[in-house]
Amino acid sequence: MTTEIAEKSTARIAIVTGGSRGLGRNTAVSLARTGVDVILTYHSNKAEAEAAVAEIEALGRKALALQLDTGEVASFDAFVGNVRRALSGTWRRDDFDYLVNNAGTSLHAGIAETREAEFDRLFDIHFKGVFFLTQKLLPLIADGGRIANISSGLARFTIPGYGAYAAMKGAIEVFTRYLAKELGPRRIAVNTVAPGAIETDFSGGGVRDNPEVNAFVASVTAMGRAGLPDDIGPMIASLLSDGNRWVTGQRIEASGGMFL
Ligand SMILES: NC(=O)c1ccc[n+]([C@@H]2O[C@H](COP(=O)([O-])OP(=O)(O)OC[C@H]3O[C@@H](n4cnc5c(N)ncnc54)[C@H](OP(=O)(O)O)[C@@H]3O)[C@@H](O)[C@H]2O)c1
Repeated sequence: MTTEIAEKSTARIAIVTGGSRGLGRNTAVSLARTGVDVILTYHSNKAEAEAAVAEIEALGRKALALQLDTGEVASFDAFVGNVRRALSGTWRRDDFDYLVNNAGTSLHAGIAETREAEFDRLFDIHFKGVFFLTQKLLPLIADGGRIANISSGLARFTIPGYGAYAAMKGAIEVFTRYLAKELGPRRIAVNTVAPGAIETDFSGGGVRDNPEVNAFVASVTAMGRAGLPDDIGPMIASLLSDGNRWVTGQRIEASGGMFL
C-alpha cells in the first residue's frame, strides 16, 4: 500500500543567495554533492538559475530557484512567503538548515569618484539587505543550523578603488560576530568566508578575462595563481558540515594566501 501523504524530508536544506552563477552556484552544487538540497536565488538571469537547478537535480538532490533582489528590503516579506511555500510544498518542512548570504555586485571606483547612488545601491545589496534578509529568515532557520556570510579579502588588505565595497564587507564581518553571539543559544553557528580574487563574472570578469589582472593576482598569492570557483564552493560546504559545528563568529579567508 502506498502512502497518500508525502513524508517530511530528512535531507538538510540550504538557501544560497546568488546561487545561479559564480561562487554561489559552485557552493550550491558543492552542497548538493554532500547530500544537501538547495533553494537558490537569482536576481535577473532566470535561465542561469534554471541551469543551476538542473545541475543539482542531476546529482540526485532537490533544488528550486526563487527570484530575489537582496537590495530591496521591501520585497523580503514576499520572498519569505515564497520560501515557506517552497519548504512545505517540496520538503514538507517549515524550516531550513543553512543560509549562505552570497549575492553581490562589484563597484570599482576611487573614493573621490564614488557617486552617492552607487554607494547606496552597494550598501543596500551588501549590508542592509544581508542584515534584514537574515533577520526575516531567522524564524525559519532550524536550531543547530548554520549561516555563512560572504565577505572579501579586500576587507583585510587594501587595493585602491574598492573603498566603498570593502567597507561594506567589513561591516558584514562585524555583523557576523554579533549574529554568532546572539544565535549561540540556538546552536546556530555563524561565520564569514572571505574569498580572495576568484575567476567569475564578478566585476566584469576581470580576474578571469584580463591577463594583466590575472597575473597580478597570481603574483601576490602564495599559491601562485588566481582563485577558481572550485576553491570556494567546497570550502563553504565543508564549513557548513557537522565537523565544523564548534566554529562560530570567525572570519575565514579563502584566498590562496593573498598578500600574506
Ligand atoms: N569573484 C571574486 O573575486 C570575489 C571575491 C571576494 C568576494 N566575492 C563575493 O562573492 C559573492 C559572489 O560573487 P561572484 O564572484 O560569484 O559574482 P557573480 O559571478 O557576478 O554572481 C553574482 C550572483 O549574485 C546575484 N545577484 C547580483 N545582484 C543581485 C541582487 N541585487 N540581488 C540578488 N542577487 C543578485 C546574481 O544573479 P543574476 O545573475 O540573476 O543577476 C548572481 O547569481 C559576492 O558577495 C562578492 O562580493 C567575490
